[in-house]
Amino acid sequence: MSFEKLQDRLNGESFSWLITGCAGFIGSNLLETLLNLGQKVTGVDNFSTGFQHNLDQVKAAVGPEKWKNFRFIQGDITRFEICQKACTGQDYVLHQAALGSVPRSVADPLTTNENNITGFLNILTAARDAKVRRFVYAASSSTYGDHPGLPKKEDKIGKPLSPYAVTKYVNELYAEVFSSTYGFKTIGLRYFNVFGRRQDPFGAYAAVIPLWFASMVREEEVYINGDGETSRDFCYIDNCVQANLLSALAGDEAADEVYNVAFGERTSLNELFVMIKDRVVRAYPRCAGLNPVFRDFRAGDVRHSLADISKAGKLLGYKPQFSVGQGLDLAAEWYMENLSC
Ligand SMILES: NC(=O)c1ccc[n+]([C@@H]2O[C@H](COP(=O)([O-])OP(=O)(O)OC[C@H]3O[C@@H](n4cnc5c(N)ncnc54)[C@H](O)[C@@H]3O)[C@@H](O)[C@H]2O)c1
Repeated sequence: MSFEKLQDRLNGESFSWLITGCAGFIGSNLLETLLNLGQKVTGVDNFSTGFQHNLDQVKAAVGPEKWKNFRFIQGDITRFEICQKACTGQDYVLHQAALGSVPRSVADPLTTNENNITGFLNILTAARDAKVRRFVYAASSSTYGDHPGLPKKEDKIGKPLSPYAVTKYVNELYAEVFSSTYGFKTIGLRYFNVFGRRQDPFGAYAAVIPLWFASMVREEEVYINGDGETSRDFCYIDNCVQANLLSALAGDEAADEVYNVAFGERTSLNELFVMIKDRVVRAYPRCAGLNPVFRDFRAGDVRHSLADISKAGKLLGYKPQFSVGQGLDLAAEWYMENLSC
């Protein structure tokens, strides 16, 4: 089914959805889209890296009528009873709650393990018990680890390079075993550097795109780890939302699989610096003289990342609608409005 057809279908039919991590970056964007499509949504979040202001923004964007279709559970998925409460009566689960960031996991592997593995197993088990129709979960491109092949194809992975990567791979293993043991239908989405509105620019573990927007606007140093030739397949948030909805509603023949979710193009950090700076300078000409500061490579980071997205195209009908440049234009608009300087 094409994404447009799927949106038409959802506009006419109402389902119950659970989004874990709904106050975070990706979760809050899923929430906004589903409420706009007239769906009933339950969200769980413990606000560890998510924010009330993300929920407030969604509320303002969808308006009071659609907001009535949202039920929020403030709670932690490391507690099984919270997962049971959240999963009861749901048609679909979009599981996003986890502690992101490779460096965070290097600094504190225990907490990452607790949230990303225990939390995952709790929600997976509760969703199975509640007999939800489909369990879609956030996997990660970090699972490719040290495999040198490019572009990355789903069936060729290497050894994990960080505790975070271990947790995301364990999620895939559990999902596979829940399929073979209990016949429970799951789809894992290996996100490749998703970016866009509401991605947190602050804190020690901010992702590169929001961090650089914020640093440039505030005329703070912009650091590049390594020589700047490290590359990533940056994926605009609306492409990621599309992949989630397609996965939830795809036929069973597409289930029990993992899929790359990316745009399918490689951008080096040096190129990214120029692309972000161009957009910031349009709003703040005073930033024209900015140059990056190079420092050491970061432990656990992979050198290059580029996705083959043909499997998601073929089996899910995934067609990313926003290029990196288009996504950066939209993200820039949002950051310029939402970053005070
Ligand atoms: N953003 C990316 O580029 C990217 C890339 C690969 C994978 N992912 C995965 O996508 C998912 C969403 O990432 P994001 O970028 O939106 O991150 P985020 O930090 O903005 O969102 C995660 C949300 O989960 C919540 N959360 C964390 N632990 C929880 C717990 N134990 N109980 C309840 N809520 C909890 C946080 O408070 C936060 O609101 C994560 O699983 C992440 O690992 C993201």
